[in-house]
Amino acid sequence: MSDEKQREPPPPTGELNRRTFFAKIGLGSLGIAAAGTAGFAYQFLSPNVLYEPSPIVNMGKPEAFAMDSVTMDSDSAIYVVHTAEGFFALSEICTHLGCMTVWNQELGIIKCPCHGSQFTQDGVVIAGPAPKPLPWFKTWVSDEGDLMVDRSTTIQPMEFLRV
Ligand code: FES
Repeated sequence: MSDEKQREPPPPTGELNRRTFFAKIGLGSLGIAAAGTAGFAYQFLSPNVLYEPSPIVNMGKPEAFAMDSVTMDSDSAIYVVHTAEGFFALSEICTHLGCMTVWNQELGIIKCPCHGSQFTQDGVVIAGPAPKPLPWFKTWVSDEGDLMVDRSTTIQPMEFLRV
């Protein structure tokens, strides 16, 4: 027998020697690395989809909008305007820096509280820094008779929806 073998007696049962200890640490590290890789692979293979609300909004029955009225719907950021020429839908979002505008019934204009832009009920700029009119959105009546607005599609001003 060599001297070396005599200096390292076998470990008692249930205790770790240095070799077993480092082998377990190495296996643990590999397990953590494999779990991390699996997590990244799952994230990479999952569809990267943003779930945003639909741009199409059901505004309800056209009869609910009185003649010569401007109705604000802050949830959808739309004005529904009902005139003798028909219906149209305007964006409530100011074309200057994106603040929410407000309909002023007494003055009969749309005002922006941020920097003072003013618009007619047709969306035309009459004052302030806003560079463009408020856009008109596509409108139609659904098969169920509801007034629908598509916020993702703008139309030329003065294209009224006649119901
Ligand atoms: S954001 Fe409306 S005037 Fe500036």
